[in-house]
Amino acid sequence: MLKIDQNNLPRHIAIIMDGNGRWAKQHTMGRIRGHKKGAQAVKTTVTACREIGIQCLTLFAFSSENWGRPNEEVNALMSLLADYLDKEAPTLQKQEIMLTTIGDVERLYPSVKKKLLEVKKLTEKNRKMVLNLALSYGSRDEIIFAVKKMISDNREGKLNVDDIDNDTVGSYLYTNNIPDPDLLIRTSGEYRISNFLLWQLAYSELYFTDVLWPDFKKDDLLTAIAVYQSRERRFGLTSEQINDK
Ligand code: IPE
Ligand code: IPE
Ligand code: MG
Repeated sequence: MLKIDQNNLPRHIAIIMDGNGRWAKQHTMGRIRGHKKGAQAVKTTVTACREIGIQCLTLFAFSSENWGRPNEEVNALMSLLADYLDKEAPTLQKQEIMLTTIGDVERLYPSVKKKLLEVKKLTEKNRKMVLNLALSYGSRDEIIFAVKKMISDNREGKLNVDDIDNDTVGSYLYTNNIPDPDLLIRTSGEYRISNFLLWQLAYSELYFTDVLWPDFKKDDLLTAIAVYQSRERRFGLTSEQINDK
C-alpha cells in the first residue's frame, strides 16, 4: 500500500463522485445499478478517510442541477440516500463520525429529510471526523442565498457593509464552520467543477482521475493524497517565501 506522510494530510478532502452512469454502461447495466455500486464506494471511502485520519470529507452526492434528471433516476437516488442513512448510521456512530450536510435540503424528499435529521442528531457529538454530504447543492445558489441574507441582516442593522471581509462571506455560506477543502478530487475523467464550492475552492489543490466513481478504492485515495503532498501550496507567495517560513 502506498505510503503517505501523516504529518501533511489534507485536513479537508472534497470529492465530486462522478461516473456512475458510465460505469453502468460499461457493465451493460442501467444507470441505477451504477448508483448502487457508487454507494458502495461511498462506504469504503468514508472508512478509508477515517482510518487515514482525515478530519473532514465532503461528498458531492446530488447537485441542484441533478433534479432535472429523469424522474425514475431522481427517485432511485433519493431512496439510495435513505437506504445509506439507514444502514450506515450505526457505523458512523461506531466510527465517531459526525454527519452534516450542505445544500437546499428542504427540497429533498420528506422521508429522506426525516432520516437526515435523525442521523445528524444521533452523530452530532462525534468528533473523529466530519462527513459532510452535499445534497441538492449548487454553489451559485449558495452564494445567492448568502447575498440575500447579508442584505437582510444589513437592513436589520446586524451587518455593517464596511465590516464585510472574507470571513464574513464564508460565515454566510453553508460551509460555515468547515475549513476550505485542501484537496478536491473529481473522478471519471471530467475536468470541471460543475457548480461545486466555487468560493471555498479558491486555493484547493485539484486532482482529476479517470477512475469511475464505483471503481474508486482506498489506493486511489492514497494516490490522490500522495500527489497532494508532492505539491507546493504557495497562496500567491514565492517558493522562497514559503520555504523560509
Ligand atoms: C455521479 O454519476 C452521480 C450523480 C451525479 C448523482 P453520474 O450519474 O453523473 O454518472 P455519469 O457522469 O453519467 O457517468
Ligand atoms: C456533478 O456531476 C454532481 C455530482 C457528482 C453529484 P454531474 O454528472 O452532475 O456533472 P456534469 O453534468 O457532468 O457537469
Ligand atoms: Mg456525471
